[in-house]
Amino acid sequence: MSEHELMRKAIEMLDRAYIPYSHFPVGAALECEDGTVYTGCNIENSSFGLTICAERTAAVKAISEGHSKFRRIVIAGNSKDFCYPCGACRQFLYEFSPDMEVICLNRAREAKRMTLRELMPCGFDSTFL
Ligand code: THU
Repeated sequence: MSEHELMRKAIEMLDRAYIPYSHFPVGAALECEDGTVYTGCNIENSSFGLTICAERTAAVKAISEGHSKFRRIVIAGNSKDFCYPCGACRQFLYEFSPDMEVICLNRAREAKRMTLRELMPCGFDSTFL
């Protein structure tokens, strides 16, 4: 899938976000090494700590379907600045693909491209255990 299509999928997911508390939608489109794509949105809960981010929604969908090697993820938000993944999502993705590409979009749909390793210097993984 082209990067443009992956961006479109992430942006489309903004409408699926369940955000009655923050009113801050996030959409994600995760491309696996084999080209399979899984999408996600943030899903909030009245018990706030149970909220799941868009990135982890997409990753959990992918992993539970047998796809745990990721090539890239597009994260779309409607904020002025780029919608970067939170710390929990960085760690969650790092477990599976520390060198994947992370493409963050702002509300103007400009893109900022990084690797997860750049976002997670000195990351913790199974080699420490
Ligand atoms: N959120 C995400 O979905 N992904 C991120 O990486 C940043 C935060 C969501 C969680 C919550 O529903 C809302 O954005 C505000 O924090």
